[in-house]
Amino acid sequence: MSVHTQNTRMTTAKIRQMKQSGEKISVLTSYDFTLTSLIDEAGVDVILVGDSASNIVCGNSHTLPITVEEMIFLTKGVVRGAQHALVICDMPFGSYQVSEEEAVRNAINILKESGCDAVKLEGGEEILPAIRHMIQAGVPVCGHLGLTPQSVNQFGGYGVRAKEEAEAAKLLHDAQLLDQAGCFMIVLEKIPAALAEKVAQSVSCPIIGIGAGDKVDGQVLVLHDMLGFNQGFKPKFLRQFAHLGEEVQKAVKDYIQAVKDQTFPNAEEQY
Ligand code: KIV
Repeated sequence: MSVHTQNTRMTTAKIRQMKQSGEKISVLTSYDFTLTSLIDEAGVDVILVGDSASNIVCGNSHTLPITVEEMIFLTKGVVRGAQHALVICDMPFGSYQVSEEEAVRNAINILKESGCDAVKLEGGEEILPAIRHMIQAGVPVCGHLGLTPQSVNQFGGYGVRAKEEAEAAKLLHDAQLLDQAGCFMIVLEKIPAALAEKVAQSVSCPIIGIGAGDKVDGQVLVLHDMLGFNQGFKPKFLRQFAHLGEEVQKAVKDYIQAVKDQTFPNAEEQY
């Protein structure tokens, strides 16, 4: 495990070195100052302000509605809470697909306004010109292939991707293109473990998996999912490391009871 000491800040260069040295990279999503401070202090290497905020924070059924302004607002709080971890902000749907110019402008705006270290965007060859321009402009870019949730309407659901040979071959090719373009990291979501292993061995940048098996360079999970805030959400790849949904409900029920029966506040809890 990576133990952060004071004055150590994670960088994209260190992330790349971790692949070389074989140290696995831990990544978690976060969307606010308070939880970020906790997970940063615990030593997580990278914090992703995912557009999963659209679901987790805003209650949407998919990631498409969230805007650049909303992502910047959330990322500012995360950046304030992250003393050590590298902070990546997801570029929302529509912010990088229309033109290269618009993509680069949005990426630069996200970096300048939020203070994050890098951006992440979904897709391969189709968005390569935009990625190249961002990297040339000095914006560190993380790729995202496989189940890319912004394409849910095209995919028709959230099933495992690249099970067929043609899609697997395209994914491998896309990963190599992103690597050659200079992406410092690539997320692979919900694809067969054997394919993820092949990709990790074929590229120089670290491969971070979510539902992509154990033969990659690191793992990412959605914080609220791995903390068990939503007991009902339990896809095969998800391990719940805590059951905070139950804890929160128990605490709130205890509080309501204490208010109703007037045991809160007690004599010590008032002025
Ligand atoms: O938005 C997100 O949380 C993500 C992770 C699932 C990788 O992209």
